[in-house]
Amino acid sequence: MKQLFFILLVSLLSVTGVAAQTADGGEGAVEGAMNAEIANPEMEGFDPRAATGGAQTLEDILARQNQQKIDDSFRRSEIGDAPTENLPGQLAPRGGESDSEIWRALRYGHDSVSVSAGGDTARVLIQDGGMRWLSFREGPLVTYGLWALGGMLILLALFYLLRGRVPIQGGKTGTTILRFAFFERMSHWVLAGSFILLGITGILSLIGRKFIAPTFGKDANASLLEGTKYIHDNVSWAFMLSLVVVFVLWVAHNIPDRLDLKWVAEGGGLFGDKHPPAKKFNAGQKIIFWSVILLGGSLSLSGLSLLFPFELPLFAKTFGIINDLGLPGLFGLDPLPRELAPQEEMQLAQSWHAIVAFVMMAIILGHIYIGTLGMEGAFDAMGDGQVDEAWAEQHHSIWYEKKKTADASSGTPAE
Ligand code: HEM
Repeated sequence: MKQLFFILLVSLLSVTGVAAQTADGGEGAVEGAMNAEIANPEMEGFDPRAATGGAQTLEDILARQNQQKIDDSFRRSEIGDAPTENLPGQLAPRGGESDSEIWRALRYGHDSVSVSAGGDTARVLIQDGGMRWLSFREGPLVTYGLWALGGMLILLALFYLLRGRVPIQGGKTGTTILRFAFFERMSHWVLAGSFILLGITGILSLIGRKFIAPTFGKDANASLLEGTKYIHDNVSWAFMLSLVVVFVLWVAHNIPDRLDLKWVAEGGGLFGDKHPPAKKFNAGQKIIFWSVILLGGSLSLSGLSLLFPFELPLFAKTFGIINDLGLPGLFGLDPLPRELAPQEEMQLAQSWHAIVAFVMMAIILGHIYIGTLGMEGAFDAMGDGQVDEAWAEQHHSIWYEKKKTADASSGTPAE
């Protein structure tokens, strides 16, 4: 069908081209034949843009119909400098003051719009990337995000089937030792509880319009999302605060050292019966810690930018730094835009926020697995804080020895 359309269009264009030349009179027939040659895409050095006088080409139109991205620099650079002499005025096909030129200037932000209120945000009348963002948010973001979570659950189920629960070798001793004090456990649970609430309400806000409204109706979706937004916006403060507290509490125990290499080389004791020595946190836990801090920090920043719309633009500045470091060039890419419309800033903040959240949720699913189902005795550490001595010796031998010596010298009895 597309091919047929293409053939029809090409025939039409060449017929009108020849007809126009002939209507000019003079050497019409000869020129018509020459033009047919110039417009032949098969010819070497053929420039389709020159053939349309710098305007759109058939390839552009077809590519856009196929949802492909086109290089539109020929339009961007044509703003405000169209020839004006000898043209009958505003309605001329390529008139300097034609309406299409105004719309193009608005579209590419070359306009001089003045508004009485609303500032930079209100000055943007057409926002070129809006639809691209919307289709990304409703399409790939939801699809790949949910797949990442589903994929992680499948991996964990497979791991459980293959490895089973990591047991305490030789069984529990019945004697316990304090692993995390009350304040540490409370901070962990505020962080965990708020993150889980944020994750659920965030996903609902993302998929509500696409999945909930068609099934349960728009009113039900609206009421639900009003609630999820309220929870999401307010619980975010508990997350940010506990993130800072957890960072301060545990950062000293999470500085990478040589022991971590040994732990990784031995597969962390996840396979087989060997358990490499570890201090308070092993390399796997350090990875979790730094993922939580870095991804959680980035999530918080983009979240703040969304919480205070247009007040905290992050991306133009970040792109400027990335360009100055020459990073895009290293990967053969064009520099990132240093100027962004306020709306574009918000769209990027939303996309980044959701991508980081999905990555972090997938990682945390692994963490929850190992803290509950995956390892015998692990949950106690965050439950009442007391872990069995056999567990402590198996998983954190260096920390255990030190803790025992410290407790003995301070007179703290094992329970
Ligand atoms: C139901 C959910 C969760 C459970 C059952 C759980 C369980 C645990 C347990 C048992 C530990 C201590 C491990 C040890 O003794 O060495 C721990 C540590 C930790 N948790 Fe969670 N957790 C949960 C959710 C979360 C969430 C949502 C976050 C962050 C957003 C988080 C962040 C951490 C961090 C940073 C540590 C220290 C590093 C580590 O042990 O991996 N946890 N968690």
